Amino acid sequence: MCGIVGYIGEKKAKPILINGLLRLEYRGYDSAGISTIEKSGIKTIKNKGRVAELENSDEINKLNGTIGIGHTRWATHGKPSTTNSHPHMDNSNTFSVVHNGIIENYAGLKEFLKSRKYTFLSDTDTEVIPNLIHFNYQNSEEKGKKRLLEAVTNTSKMLKGSFAIEILCSDFPDNMVVVRKDSPLVIGKGVNENYISSDIPAILSFTKDFYLLNDNEFAFISRDQIEFYDEDMNIIKKEARNITWDAGAAEKGGYPDFMFKEINEQPKSVRETIGARITQNSKSSIPDLKLDKEYLKTINKIFIVACGTAMYAGMAGKTILESLCEIPVEVEAASEFRYRNPIVNEKTLCIFITQSGETADTIAALKLAKSKNAKTLAISNVIGASISREADYTIYTHAGPEIAVASTKAYTSQIVLLAIIAINFAEKLEINQEKVNELKSDILLLPSQLEEVLKNTERIKSFAQRIYKEKDVFFIGRGIDYTVALEGSLKLKEISYIHSEAYPSGELKHGPIALIENDVTIISILTNRLLVEKSISNIQEVVTRGAKTFIITNQELNHNFDEVITIPKTNPLISPILSVVPLQILAYYISKEKGLDVDKPRNLAKSVTVE
Ligand code: F6R
Repeated sequence: MCGIVGYIGEKKAKPILINGLLRLEYRGYDSAGISTIEKSGIKTIKNKGRVAELENSDEINKLNGTIGIGHTRWATHGKPSTTNSHPHMDNSNTFSVVHNGIIENYAGLKEFLKSRKYTFLSDTDTEVIPNLIHFNYQNSEEKGKKRLLEAVTNTSKMLKGSFAIEILCSDFPDNMVVVRKDSPLVIGKGVNENYISSDIPAILSFTKDFYLLNDNEFAFISRDQIEFYDEDMNIIKKEARNITWDAGAAEKGGYPDFMFKEINEQPKSVRETIGARITQNSKSSIPDLKLDKEYLKTINKIFIVACGTAMYAGMAGKTILESLCEIPVEVEAASEFRYRNPIVNEKTLCIFITQSGETADTIAALKLAKSKNAKTLAISNVIGASISREADYTIYTHAGPEIAVASTKAYTSQIVLLAIIAINFAEKLEINQEKVNELKSDILLLPSQLEEVLKNTERIKSFAQRIYKEKDVFFIGRGIDYTVALEGSLKLKEISYIHSEAYPSGELKHGPIALIENDVTIISILTNRLLVEKSISNIQEVVTRGAKTFIITNQELNHNFDEVITIPKTNPLISPILSVVPLQILAYYISKEKGLDVDKPRNLAKSVTVE
């Protein structure tokens, strides 16, 4: 969950590394550091705190090297501190290492190294890596480049867990070695220079041509050459891929924060997700999804597996898929699915939703489903992400880079894509054609309807100013509106640190209503005409107990509530795409009123590549 960056070229590495780290801070932000190769050897500067503090430190300006590595940390082993921050050096100061991921067997390796007189400064799992490389380097009989490569490959074979590692060696002042397993790493190709990062957006302003490393692949990098090796040191060939994301997409572009930018980008991101996949008068087209009628007729269950916001998108997707395809759908958190024995076989289609494509639990769940002979379909936002290398099929949301830790535009794009998949399956199965045609026209209206919803921003901001000091907030809804309540509640807690709960409206009276007292805030989503009267009765029950009410609806309501945000009418199956937006804006402004860092909430990081 940390971010890593590297540069090797003719320019000064320091500003490029700092620039990359600033863009990577959403992956972790409790400490940061860089190492460069100077005339006098490897020089490392690191500190506890944000990248800005590293950038402002006096010493950092003394770094002139043109090769360097950098890291911004989200602590797993060892508290945030300067000593625990990366890069870590070996005892002889020959190797400097930055690492993303977790070394599960680090305790045993540490004991092994201690028995050979190695000493350790930090509490991290990472510090074993440079020392182990040193140990293997000392014991290698190879010479030159092969000696370094052998030391690194032997080290990676001793590591259990997940890792993306960049290594500098003072004996090779013109090179860098990188390796990955179960943690992302890309190499951006320039002219007489190369860039390395855990995430494409961090180096997108420098290059658009990327090499993607697979598990247990290594690269030996010079300014003008990149050699790739497998774990047995055989050379492998790789083609660079051109990434079409616009470099500006990874910038704030005049918005105060990435989250606000990403909320406001939703008309565009949803349009991009729809792309040419559906048009009104022809059949849907998802070229990468080669599941035909014969296969679809054999499946008796669809599992949707994901984490957090992506799972809530999956819950909305369940309603759409069941309604259009008439196949039962189960939704489960990947962290649960992977540790039980789910009933999955060749008749189950398993869909894995992940914005980053790197979430450890989701990838592990996918591997489990595959081992049980299910077909696997990944929905991801990041081209070439780890999950795409495991899944039978991957389709992309094309929402553009999502930088803010709190997911917004990825969620709406995930639901749109699930709706398009449901349409595609129903068309292949030749069922529910009327519903399919209606849904298609309603999907095509979404981008302009999202623009309408965004016009409520100032009113939502005023409501946020009224309630930002609350301690508890409740979200309620029925049917698909309940899935939006869950997502609204998650958004609020993660960026405003207000405790909140989401309940199906009808469940209040079975217990939670005991918590309702004077002035408590209840946020209710009401988009289904058939359920509106029932839900209003539930809201009246809390109003009579003194609750403040914030309603998001596309129905005409003849009742007095504290605030009613009216959104355009749409097909109930896709209403979450519109009704979630006011909740995103509300959470955003509450966080701003509290003076919090909206893009980088405490204790969280953008992609959860550890268990
Ligand atoms: C919440 C949020 C998280 C992610 C979850 C899965 O705003 O961002 O709940 O949705 O960690 O991440 P991905 O989609 O990258 O697998």
